[in-house]
Amino acid sequence: MSRLILPYSREDAGAPPSLHPDYRSTVLRSPRLAPLAIPATLTEITGPDEAWDRLMGPAMTDLTAQHRGAPQGQRIVVAGLVLDEQARPVPHTMIEIWQANAAGRYIHSRDDWPAPLDPNFTGVGRVVTDAEGRYRFVTIRPGAYPWGNHKNAWRPAHIHLSLLGPAFATRLVTQMYFPDDPLIEIDPIANAVPMPYRQRLVARFDIGITEPNWALGYRFDIVLKGRGQTPFEEHHDDH
Ligand SMILES: [Fe+2]
Repeated sequence: MSRLILPYSREDAGAPPSLHPDYRSTVLRSPRLAPLAIPATLTEITGPDEAWDRLMGPAMTDLTAQHRGAPQGQRIVVAGLVLDEQARPVPHTMIEIWQANAAGRYIHSRDDWPAPLDPNFTGVGRVVTDAEGRYRFVTIRPGAYPWGNHKNAWRPAHIHLSLLGPAFATRLVTQMYFPDDPLIEIDPIANAVPMPYRQRLVARFDIGITEPNWALGYRFDIVLKGRGQTPFEEHHDDH
């Protein structure tokens, strides 16, 4: 791959600031000094291209079929396109997914709030876009969960996504929310992304993706860079 790919800047208009005091852990982790520009070398400007299966194993596109039985919760299909800054589809790029179960609990040693684990749900998936930049996965709608940011803090239902794009330096980590969730407007992580860019993190219900007698469908297109970029939304403390 020969075209030059630059790492994504966190200074994009829609990017959350590294310091957002309402989101408490950013106070300690945000840098106090200006970032250093690091020259991109071959390691950053190239990626595995079509070698994902060889590196990572086969895709895991159905999070409801990883165990003996079906997980509890509302079955959903999430599908969309991955696009670059020119709105061109990005084929053969890997999307890693992780989420809480329907009760809002992660399978993680540090997640110990009293909501049940689901023996039929791990909450981890991996999909690769096709030649037209499309992706699709099947899962259950995650539940909201409390976190220690402030008194009575609850995270809206969300799915975490990490996209590598065409090169290692083009990694985009973000979260997808569900439409009409009243918790979005009181969530410091979502609110660190200014409007109207925050809307880019909210999937749309799509009757065309919905499968009769099977699963509700949501559309979530992801733009890696440029004017329509999907905001970067990472968080570091298991939320
Ligand atoms: Fe989370």
